[in-house]
Amino acid sequence: MVHYGDYQMEIYRAGLDGRLPKLPVDFRSLEAWAHAAMPPGLVSYVAGGCGNEHTQDINVSAFERWGLIPRMFVGAAKRDMSIDLFGMRLPSPIFMSPIGVIGVCAQDGLGDIATAKAARKLGVPMVASTLSNIPLEEVASEFGDTPGFFQLYTPTDRALAESLVRRAEAAGFKGIVVTLDTWVTGWRPRDLNQSNFPFLRGHCLGNYFSDPVFRASLADPLDEDMQAGIMQWGKIFGNPLNWDDLPWLRSLTKLPLIMKGICHPDDARRAIDAGVDGIYCSNHGGR
Ligand SMILES: Cc1cc2nc3c(=O)[nH]c(=O)nc-3n(C[C@H](O)[C@H](O)[C@H](O)COP(=O)(O)O)c2cc1C
Repeated sequence: MVHYGDYQMEIYRAGLDGRLPKLPVDFRSLEAWAHAAMPPGLVSYVAGGCGNEHTQDINVSAFERWGLIPRMFVGAAKRDMSIDLFGMRLPSPIFMSPIGVIGVCAQDGLGDIATAKAARKLGVPMVASTLSNIPLEEVASEFGDTPGFFQLYTPTDRALAESLVRRAEAAGFKGIVVTLDTWVTGWRPRDLNQSNFPFLRGHCLGNYFSDPVFRASLADPLDEDMQAGIMQWGKIFGNPLNWDDLPWLRSLTKLPLIMKGICHPDDARRAIDAGVDGIYCSNHGGR
């Protein structure tokens, strides 16, 4: 894994020749640059949360309350942050969470690929979203030796869910992350005020449009009626799952199955009892 200390020395050394970093390294400036580079509707989608964004703000302040107490005299010249997870040895306990519009956050529309390449370089696994601009097979082909995880938005069509999972297995993904908290999108005032929902504009539906089950559900081929394809996606996107559906989900794959969006301890216990392998505790960033 890249040692950040090497990276900063690289920057300081380049500074001796008068060269500055291409991108700012602090979050605030990075955010400002990103906002300047993206269309306003996309900025709203990425930066906005639901309601008055109270949950989003509280997430940040709650996280700020965590701290680390460093221990001294441990000779930490060579660090080891590695963890064992689902039988894999990972260089750090960090993952890249699934970001549905990451594809269009890059000006060339290849943000999913750029993220997969970063995962390969850093050894930090990418959780690739169902809502990807580029089909999951192409994203996975960029992972190199870094394991990748596929995030599933379970559609109402079970055959389509199964097809997506089969494709993820065949593409070499090492786990399936099922997002439970978004069978309907949040009430997002920034997006509502601009009447902007990227997916209804046909963005980031690459996994659906490349799927044989999805394509077979359309009356006309996609290239003849793209709008009908988008509307069909809207109809099948979100499945409000019940506990009764969990055995079916579990039966879909032998890969590690991780449930995203579980927050209550009772839900966590019940999911583990039903055979899931991991709990991804999250309120979807208050989105
Ligand atoms: C722009 C954006 C798009 C997101 N898209 C997805 C997605 O496609 N699938 C998903 O499960 N979560 C999605 N999320 C939620 C993130 O994966 C993650 O849950 C959130 O950023 C909060 O982090 P946390 O879950 O670690 O608390 C998205 C978040 C953002 C900011």
